[in-house]
Amino acid sequence: MTTDPREIAEYPYRDQPEKDGIGEEDNKIPLWFSASFAFTIVFAVIYVPWYILSGWSSEGQWAAQVERAEARFADARPAVATENPFRGDAAAIAAGGEVWATTCVACHKPDGSGLVGPSLIDPYWKYGDTDQALYETIDKGRPLGMPPWGPQLGSEKIWQVLAYMETLPRTDQPGLGAPEGWQPGS
Ligand code: HEC
Repeated sequence: MTTDPREIAEYPYRDQPEKDGIGEEDNKIPLWFSASFAFTIVFAVIYVPWYILSGWSSEGQWAAQVERAEARFADARPAVATENPFRGDAAAIAAGGEVWATTCVACHKPDGSGLVGPSLIDPYWKYGDTDQALYETIDKGRPLGMPPWGPQLGSEKIWQVLAYMETLPRTDQPGLGAPEGWQPGS
């Protein structure tokens, strides 16, 4: 009994090229394979235009999730006033003056004209002068040397010191201590 396919009379691929006793057979492609191949083409033709036209994106999906989470947990977040509640309140301004004298003057000078930190009485604001922007500056600090005061002062004292800051006589002269890269009006 032989195991060499070329010596078996009924071996159907006797004439095909062969190497080392291994012949190449030429089976019909199974139906399941051709069918799945055809399916991938049909799938692509439907899916690609659908994907493009639907406008779906993972970024959009993320944004929608964030929006839903924001809506759901909005109440749980401590409400930070967007406007200074102490504006013009004499008692609060006095309290703010104390915070100013103990916490801010070392870098911004008692008159606010700036030393290590920039002038706070000129018309130039690097990070904005809306109540919200100022609150954030004091609360979280700024990268070029303004420390975050939120943990130490808490929101009430931050608003008080900002109310006090507003009462400092203003000037249109740019002050000292403008950090590097700072441009009037920027
Ligand atoms: C250790 C020094 C230091 C102390 C103390 C300090 N600051 Fe500052 N402050 C800075 C520096 C430096 C900057 C500039 C930061 C930057 O440009 O990124 C700055 C920036 C600011 C700005 C932003 C100015 C702008 O143009 O947008 C405000 C407002 C401010 N400080 C208010 C305060 C107040 C109020 C206090 C007291 C609670 C205070 N700072 C205490 C150093 C200080």
